[in-house]
Amino acid sequence: MKINRHFLELHDSYLFSTVGRKTAEYIAAHPGRKVIRLSIGDVTRPLAPAVIDAMHRAVDDMSKKETFKGYGPDRYCYGYDVLLDSIVHSYARKGISLEKSEIFISDGAKSDLGNILDLFAPENTVLVPDPVYPVYVDTNVMAGRKILFADATARNGFLPMPDFSVDADIIYLCSPNNPTGAAYTKEQLKEWVRYALKKDAVLLYDAAYEYFITDPALARSVFEIEGAKECAIEFCSYSKTAGFTGVRCGYTVVPQALIREGTSLNKLWARRQSTKFNGVSYITQMGAAAVFTEEGEKQIAENLGYYRENAAIIADCLDGIGIRYTGGKNSPYIWMECPGGMGSWEFFDYLLENANVVGTPGSGFGKNGEGFFRLTAFGTKEDTAEACCRIRDLLTK
Ligand code: MLT
Repeated sequence: MKINRHFLELHDSYLFSTVGRKTAEYIAAHPGRKVIRLSIGDVTRPLAPAVIDAMHRAVDDMSKKETFKGYGPDRYCYGYDVLLDSIVHSYARKGISLEKSEIFISDGAKSDLGNILDLFAPENTVLVPDPVYPVYVDTNVMAGRKILFADATARNGFLPMPDFSVDADIIYLCSPNNPTGAAYTKEQLKEWVRYALKKDAVLLYDAAYEYFITDPALARSVFEIEGAKECAIEFCSYSKTAGFTGVRCGYTVVPQALIREGTSLNKLWARRQSTKFNGVSYITQMGAAAVFTEEGEKQIAENLGYYRENAAIIADCLDGIGIRYTGGKNSPYIWMECPGGMGSWEFFDYLLENANVVGTPGSGFGKNGEGFFRLTAFGTKEDTAEACCRIRDLLTK
């Protein structure tokens, strides 16, 4: 038996596991200290009442033989009509028309972003922005694929544009970006679509943070761009939109028009999902369907507003100290320069030890992240304000 040796090329642990371990070690060594975590993008607002009511009703359905549900419906890879219809409707409001067969309900964007690679041959070349959500890189390292990096730096506003002299087959884009918070305009995305069409490549578009966009010049979906249905797959999540990090639900859009080597990628993905996945629970899907009801949307907008205020608190704090950053406006992440030329992990330790605040070292997202640090706006208001006071005290001392 031979193991997949590509796993040995990975860092020992996943970025957020390392942050979690270091934080736990610090807490164990310093009992009684209140450590504030603004690291992993995990939400703190409870689920919206509309979602809770829908889930309660779904639990009741499961208790009666007339309404009990086993496996989800086969027709759309275990997605229930009510949820699929609500997603079709939410796209229609952005001017995008989708068929239900193009939407695949999943347990979140992270799994699908990794699993989608089943569809692509190992010899494909992958293009990944640097810095970036580590899942894109790690999953391709596991598969032994050749990875090219597109530099995302202050010089290009952390938004790399296509270089037509480079040949890539699979391109990851995340907008609003994790970790930098930068977001592509529709004009910029047109260039990426043009590139993918020219190269016969596929764009893997992570839209997990689209609900944080308020600027109308920014794209909420890659399918707002003409031609994207012939070259893109979009990954969406209820995690950050509706507080589902613990519930687990997302969806992936694989357009019928996406054909490569004469084969429909939609068909391949349907085949993959029906073989390796048994769907998302009925209770979860009913909760997710309530997100896009009128009442649900109103309640979710309040939660998003709460996180936006946290982002503004962090931004004000950094402005006051004179630290440069991006993000925080159309994104829940703030990407700051480490003060005094410190390295990312150096600043992580400094902040943890001296302010008892945890963030995410930028270098964990790629080499261009060195010297940067990511803070999340998903904490509670009280913790965010307290963390900012501590950061201000420490850095203006
Ligand atoms: C993050 O903090 O980058 C995200 O929460 C990670 C994730 O969504 O998996």
